[in-house]
Amino acid sequence: MNVGIDLGYGFVKATNGAQTVKFPSLVEVGQSRGDVFRSADYEVTIDGVTYFVGNMARREGKSLINLSNALAKEEELRVLWLTALALLGDEPASVVTGLPLSQYETRERFSEQLAKMRGTVTIGNKTRIVDTESVQVVPQAMGAMMAGLLEPDTMALRNPGWMQQGGYLLLVDVGTRTTGVVTFETQPEFTWVAKLSGATDIGMIDVFRAMQEAFGQLAGSAPRLEETPFWEALLTRGETWYSGRTVDFRTQRNAIADRFGKRIAQYAVQLLGGEAWNRVAVVFLAGGGADVPLHALSTHSSSVFVISDAQMANATGFYLFGRSRG
Ligand SMILES: Nc1ncnc2c1ncn2[C@@H]1O[C@H](COP(=O)(O)OP(=O)(O)OP(=O)(O)O)[C@@H](O)[C@H]1O
Ligand SMILES: [Mg+2]
Repeated sequence: MNVGIDLGYGFVKATNGAQTVKFPSLVEVGQSRGDVFRSADYEVTIDGVTYFVGNMARREGKSLINLSNALAKEEELRVLWLTALALLGDEPASVVTGLPLSQYETRERFSEQLAKMRGTVTIGNKTRIVDTESVQVVPQAMGAMMAGLLEPDTMALRNPGWMQQGGYLLLVDVGTRTTGVVTFETQPEFTWVAKLSGATDIGMIDVFRAMQEAFGQLAGSAPRLEETPFWEALLTRGETWYSGRTVDFRTQRNAIADRFGKRIAQYAVQLLGGEAWNRVAVVFLAGGGADVPLHALSTHSSSVFVISDAQMANATGFYLFGRSRG
């Protein structure tokens, strides 16, 4: 099976075309408890060692794998990787994954490291031997760009005009920790333009932190930053039920989304500079925070699109890329 996996700072996203999985990039070493009250995410046993993966890790874990330790980091990566693959099925996988452009020079080492990862994985009542047939590492933004450009069923361009008219295609990926801006040239050939690509450390974690502070002022206290479902829902709805009453957070929500949206748009516009910006034909927005800069970017460009299922865009594009290679 072809699989696309996007290993983000915040979330692992993966798809095989038929199924998709998404879980927080959190791993803790646990002990199998086997009792009745289990929370939503995964208790995963790999070669006899039990881990809590995803939301469950946040609540139940005993010893957090220490990310500052390179070995532990490798172990965490292995757990996230094998969990995603085991959730997607039994067949050996041909996987496409991505690296941010800033780390792209490490791609060979990274793909060798991933290709060696195999194990016997138990999740719930299913045990699978997880292995890969091949692992290919592409620039991360290429994934979201393909998801934006292509019709998934036919792999045809959604809009041939995007490629024909020349100029630049821009991809803005608003992630947990960072926002990446990547520029592609369409003519004479579809190529990535390194000097017009970059990343800034504005991410959704900053948006949620600002919301947490404002929420605390309004409601007297606030949930922890790690409660991402709470902050995602509050950003989307603008109000919530909290300590016995409905809190109307819309004014604060709008101001914060506006402020970060403008900062992201400003970063993108300045990165390209006026002349190159005038040649941007389309701006695609991806990542879980795709909606945040939509309004601000729309004041700079008349064609801004949020890729559908924006948080999954890289994984979807990696999958499409793998499929196009057969
Ligand atoms: N529908 C939504 N509304 C608001 N926020 C969302 C939504 N979906 C996801 N998010 C948030 O968007 C953020 C970015 O998610 P995403 O999966 O794109 O990040 P990532 O790829 O893990 O991070 P990075 O790209 O920095 O490595 C997360 O903090 C997530 O909580
Ligand atoms: Mg990401």
